[in-house]
Amino acid sequence: MILITGGTGYIGSHTAVKLIEQGHEIVIFDNLYNSKIDALDNIEKITGVRPKFYKADMLDKDALDKIFKENQIHCVIHFAGLKAVGESVEEPLKYFHNNITGTINLLMTMQKNNCKKIIFSSSATVYGTTQTMPLDETSPMGVTNPYGRTKLVIEDMLKDLSNSDKEWGIVLLRYFNPIGAHKSSLIGENPKGIPNNLMPYICKVARGELPVLNVFGNDYDTIDGTGVRDYIHVEDLAEGHVKAYKKIINQKGLYTYNLGTGKGYSVLQVIDAFEKANKIKINYKFAQRRAGDVAIVYADTKKAEEELGFKAKYNLEDMCKDSWNFAKMNLKKLPTNE
Ligand code: NAD
Ligand code: WQD
Repeated sequence: MILITGGTGYIGSHTAVKLIEQGHEIVIFDNLYNSKIDALDNIEKITGVRPKFYKADMLDKDALDKIFKENQIHCVIHFAGLKAVGESVEEPLKYFHNNITGTINLLMTMQKNNCKKIIFSSSATVYGTTQTMPLDETSPMGVTNPYGRTKLVIEDMLKDLSNSDKEWGIVLLRYFNPIGAHKSSLIGENPKGIPNNLMPYICKVARGELPVLNVFGNDYDTIDGTGVRDYIHVEDLAEGHVKAYKKIINQKGLYTYNLGTGKGYSVLQVIDAFEKANKIKINYKFAQRRAGDVAIVYADTKKAEEELGFKAKYNLEDMCKDSWNFAKMNLKKLPTNE
């Protein structure tokens, strides 16, 4: 059985669907801090299978141990964690405790129960800010906020663990900018409150929930002055996990891969693609640069392609369509937008 931590969340739920569709048995745990139990109903609607679920917190070692005792878990895909960059600056200890202590608890429980395969959700945020693009897996590391630090610390812990015990099989997946949603529009990203990330914000503006998108900076050294990022469809990302699972299940050691498309798009290009794909206007204005942002980030995807056989299939138009279809079905519609 594969244990998915944070499996009712955005990326975890899409990965759960892909694994079930490919015949794998999974068990999910989540404390539902940033997701809803409905995700299970929706995974069941898509796949016909309701995954076994535990409402549990990584900070509760006994709860973790119970999950391992009650299930034959041979591999963990570890999504659970807090991910809001701004909040992590305000409350670093909350992030260190949840993400780092939580992961230590998970790893100790795995070791105790002799489960030594793990795929970890890392992030492109672990790369330092002054870089030549594209970023490959050997690009220099560095972080600019406590959230990023948790990812870097966990990567380092996993490297130490792998060095200390050669029985472990570990994959670090560094995601670039995941957007999009499942074709069914049953699962997707629905952040609470005002979104931090570009695509959920665009969807809320399109939906009339927020009046205008602030484009953070139009004086970067990029194609049109706005920030460039490597957006990847969450369905592609989910498939990347299945490929990582296939690699690690019969291998030991530690492997690191970027999961991106290798293409960068500016904020204005994303807005334009969204407008064309969905035939809807996005009200935007230029605003100050956001602290901590860099001009351009995109992935070198060669290693994942060569070693995992992973190549993203979906383009920006697909991502914009699927994000919007999900938002239409799931975000609140304001009467003023009619
Ligand atoms: P998400 O918030 O939708 O999913 C994370 C899940 O973890 C949530 O359902 C939350 O309730 C759960 N969780 C948090 N703390 C927990 C705890 N202590 N115990 C049990 N469950 C807990 O986020 P996501 O976008 O699906 O991200 C999944 C992982 O990928 C995270 O680790 C995130 O840092 C990483 N990541 C995300 C992005 C992105 O832009 N979405 C990019 C890079 C990396
Ligand atoms: C994308 C572009 C913004 C919002 C973040 C995390 C990173 C990773 C992915 C987890 C940038 C611009 C955004 C808005 C805007 N997450 N923007 N107006 O910053 O590349 O990465 O999510 O690991 O760690 O930092 O993504 O979606 O916030 O921004 O103009 O309202 O959109 O300046 O150029 P980012 P994002």
